[in-house]
Amino acid sequence: MRSEYCGALNTAFIDQTVTLCGWVDRRRDHGGVIFIDLRDRDGIVQVVFDPDGKDNFALADKVRSEYVLQVTGKVRARDAATVNPNMATGEIEVYGTELEILSVAETPPFPLSEHSSVGEDVRLKYRYLDLRRQEMQHNLRFRSKVTNAIRNYLDQHEFLDIETPILTRATPEGARDYLVPSRTHDGKFFALPQSPQLFKQLLMVSGFDRYYQIAKCFRDEDLRADRQPEFTQIDIETSFMSDEHIMSITEGMITDVFKSMKDIDLGEFPRMPYSEAMAKYGSDKPDLRIPLELVDIKDLMTEVEFKVFSGPANDPKGRIAALKIEGGNAKLTRKQIDDYTKFVSIYGAKGLAYIKVNDKADLENGLQSPIVKFLPNDVRGAILERVGAENGDLIFFGADKATVVSESLGALRCKLGEDLDLYTCEWAPLWVVDFPMFEETDTGWTSLHHPFTAPACTPEELEANPGEALSIAYDMVLNGTELGGGSVRIHDQAMQQTVFKVLGIGEEEQREKFGFLLDALQYGAPPHGGLAFGLDRLIMLMTDSDSIRDVIAFPKTQTAACVMTDAPGAVDRKQLRELNIKLTEKAAEKKPSSE
Ligand code: AMO
Ligand code: AMP
Repeated sequence: MRSEYCGALNTAFIDQTVTLCGWVDRRRDHGGVIFIDLRDRDGIVQVVFDPDGKDNFALADKVRSEYVLQVTGKVRARDAATVNPNMATGEIEVYGTELEILSVAETPPFPLSEHSSVGEDVRLKYRYLDLRRQEMQHNLRFRSKVTNAIRNYLDQHEFLDIETPILTRATPEGARDYLVPSRTHDGKFFALPQSPQLFKQLLMVSGFDRYYQIAKCFRDEDLRADRQPEFTQIDIETSFMSDEHIMSITEGMITDVFKSMKDIDLGEFPRMPYSEAMAKYGSDKPDLRIPLELVDIKDLMTEVEFKVFSGPANDPKGRIAALKIEGGNAKLTRKQIDDYTKFVSIYGAKGLAYIKVNDKADLENGLQSPIVKFLPNDVRGAILERVGAENGDLIFFGADKATVVSESLGALRCKLGEDLDLYTCEWAPLWVVDFPMFEETDTGWTSLHHPFTAPACTPEELEANPGEALSIAYDMVLNGTELGGGSVRIHDQAMQQTVFKVLGIGEEEQREKFGFLLDALQYGAPPHGGLAFGLDRLIMLMTDSDSIRDVIAFPKTQTAACVMTDAPGAVDRKQLRELNIKLTEKAAEKKPSSE
């Protein structure tokens, strides 16, 4: 039906007759001449109809926004005065000689050029229109090219693309499962996979050696800008490969994609132990574009009278940290400091103490702060020295349980980086390594990753001191976003049993949850390990999008619903009866169902 894409035309086509198909982006009537901006997935070109064209002109007059047209015409150069440098096809136009309206369109619920003034819910309800916008067209094309580059890279490195089931059992990633009732097995449910974790380990037992899959994963968890209930992983597993080798091959994949798609050299990724990331950045996914660092000052505060500080200073789980902003004195107003105090309260911080360093030589009167009156001069001097303060600097403080201080000051660090534009580079990738095996909760030890992650110590050491044990796990972080994570897995029975013992997972629960994997591991399991990247997050970063919803064709809203298809939806009673499911009265009231 067409000879070229609209966006592909340029001066090389001058005097050629072309046939185009596309949507009317805009139609203008300029004193008897009709201009139509015709749009397809490649771009926009201006088509001109004048009254000499008779029937075509009359038809062009009827055309409205978003009509679908087929146009034949001759490409010609625009007059110098009408050249549009903002348009890729701005040096030419098509003089229309034939026109057919292939499809008419209602007035769209929002002008596509004014999408930002309508709520996201409206954009998502009419997603098929929202997707016509150039930004969304670009994002999804870019995504397609990235997955293609990734497939090529992994194929070249001998990885096999193998699909794993969607109707399965619970997988051990720690979020809530999406359940699917079985009609043929009364009262039983499938779980949608939170990841292909268990199956990819089984594929290693089966000898496939190098597996990958661009896999849909499902997690019923609280949503944020970088989380969706249904998302896509680039999932990878390998046999007979060390953690170093796994990291190097997957780092190569990401650097390759950045180079080929964006001509960006990410360089070699630095490694950072988890403990250092938490100490300096208050986060296990530090944004290294921002030069600010937390500095611990707990040891300076054990004797002070100020309870806000002496309490955490004498609590083994407490932390007191300082965050120095160079020249912050002049950069931050009192109002901004109050706003940041509110900001950290989101993370549970009870306040945000600060010191403005006016004259560091005058400890008595040279510091402006609501807390210095509680601190003796030697402590004031020690703080300034520890953080390397200069006149004009502002120092923030957090004092609380370590988790609260790390989270709140870690988030404040990122917020300050953004607000004060402190970024020192555009891209800052790194590997975070040496994660603890376990974290302590009210109910005992839980896995930081999942129970198949291999520790970096012997079973005896693990049992004797679970809190100290590190795992052979690694996360890839880019600009403060966790892009991917994985680990070397346990392939040794004794070690696996020790981990279950520490986690308090008894024989029955082991069999119930992972019996098939434990069985398989007895039949000759190779040493294996892998990782998974969040594809949506990767594309979000590469396209500089604010949300992963902008790189997914049909995403869910923040409340995990699809406003376009109205899913999740009610089902009729017959279907429920077949599944032997009866709704509680409350649920039935909310979702009226028909017979
Ligand atoms: P993990 O749970 O860390 O590991 O997930 C791997 C990566 O998937 C992405 N991701 C998400 N993206 C969007 N929305 C979500 N709700 C979401 N949850 C996770 C992140 C994350 O880094 N089986 C292990 C991997 C392994 O050990 O091999 C796993 O799933 O980018
Ligand atoms: P207060 O004595 O509660 O008025 O607090 C004095 C100063 O300490 C104020 O600037 C508070 O914002 C700050 N502050 C209070 N609690 C904390 C805390 N847990 N961590 C850091 N600063 C705090």
